[in-house]
Amino acid sequence: KVVAVILVGGPTKGTRFRPLSLNVAKPLFPLAGQPMVQHPILACKKIENLAHIYLIGFYEDREFALYTSALSNELKVPVRYLKEDKPHGSAGGLYQFRDLILEEDPTDIIVLNCDVCCSFPLTDMLAFHRKCGGMGTILVKKVSPEVASEFGELVADSDSGELLHYAEKPETFVSDLINCGVYIFSPEIFIAIQDVKSARHDRAVLRRLTSFEALQSATKTLSADFIRLDQDILTPLAGKKKLYAYETQDFWEQIKVPGISLRCSALYLGQYRTTSPHLLAKSDSKGAIVSGDVYIHPSAKTHPSAKIGPNVSISANARIGPGVRLIGCIILDDVEIEENAVVMNAIIGWKSSLGRWARVQGGGDYTTKLGITILGEGVSVEDEVVVINCIVLSHKTLNRSVHEEIIL
Ligand code: GDD
Ligand code: GTP
Repeated sequence: KVVAVILVGGPTKGTRFRPLSLNVAKPLFPLAGQPMVQHPILACKKIENLAHIYLIGFYEDREFALYTSALSNELKVPVRYLKEDKPHGSAGGLYQFRDLILEEDPTDIIVLNCDVCCSFPLTDMLAFHRKCGGMGTILVKKVSPEVASEFGELVADSDSGELLHYAEKPETFVSDLINCGVYIFSPEIFIAIQDVKSARHDRAVLRRLTSFEALQSATKTLSADFIRLDQDILTPLAGKKKLYAYETQDFWEQIKVPGISLRCSALYLGQYRTTSPHLLAKSDSKGAIVSGDVYIHPSAKTHPSAKIGPNVSISANARIGPGVRLIGCIILDDVEIEENAVVMNAIIGWKSSLGRWARVQGGGDYTTKLGITILGEGVSVEDEVVVINCIVLSHKTLNRSVHEEIIL
């Protein structure tokens, strides 16, 4: 049997994703019309003998309870949210729920970061993992040397794939091969985490015996159960014939800043062409003219004279008026766009409204802070107002045109 675990983090994480994470937990923000975390969940669902999917995080239960119960029914695989009382780190969180994860005696445990966007080639990776027979397999990808230091960098043997060296976000260049945050482990991983835990505990006890600085020892012992998968587990296990790297040539992105969600949404829409063509909108007599990859929620209404696409996703109950043009954007729930407005390279927040002939656009550079335009919840852009490369926080009314501004 196989069990999948997705690390979803909690409310103190993901501050860089604001303002989009002010209304909804980041893992539930929609990309290509489906919550971010649903893309890895659907990839896990394709694995043979998948017994359970667990989401581990420190958000309140209610943020995920409804979502997981609806999804369990739909997928016919139990999906359950497990809440940590506090952040334990990516390996510490896993360890806390080891009894549940091991309950059905799985042979393999898939562990995924929820804030990555990729094709999740889990079936091929699982076959590779079983062939290598190691304790763990990491999905890796070659990136340009300039950006590699934002991630875990690693060196692997080119023949066997064995992980030889691992450095988490190193200051000096190690390798252009990076950790994608997608893992498959054998149950032995819990012994490795236990070993780190015990070593820390022993050191803390020793410190308490030898030091009179009670405060110092108290703060050190507090962090004894905070264990990170990368620094605390991968680094020491590299070069010990226990871990292997599986390289992907497909797309991969990390989702930290809001702008990247436009790119990820486009990547997932492109993937629908082969995985779920039924989710892609087509031009028909009832709705707008569609060009390229577009997702439109069944409850959204689009006027037949609007033109939508490529790379657009429109969420529930949005209303798109006559003559509207939408390109490369995410339109969230209950947005209203009036006639002849244009939206390009932008994210329009829940319940926002754009007046007639309004224009909301970004330059399209996802990597810079003001490369796209983001409107928070309930923003109202009045008729004929032009908004370019701006971030607008919730509940603002824009009655004049703005350019490269953050409007708080
Ligand atoms: N449940 C739980 N508890 N989840 C956590 C915790 C925790 O205490 N801490 C982090 N996570 C989750 C995050 O939500 C995220 O999905 C994942 O674990 C990794 O988050 P970080 O530990 O903050 O690492 P990172 O995202 O900066 O970098 C990691 O991922 C990169 C790939 O995206 C590293 O493993 C890098 O090496 C890697 O390249
Ligand atoms: P920042 O530097 O603050 O962006 O955080 P980080 O990189 O340490 O956090 P990271 O982006 O790795 O944390 C990501 C995880 O936090 C995501 O996977 C989400 O589970 C969660 N998260 C992100 N944004 C928010 C948010 O605003 N609200 C809540 N409730 N959770 C979030």
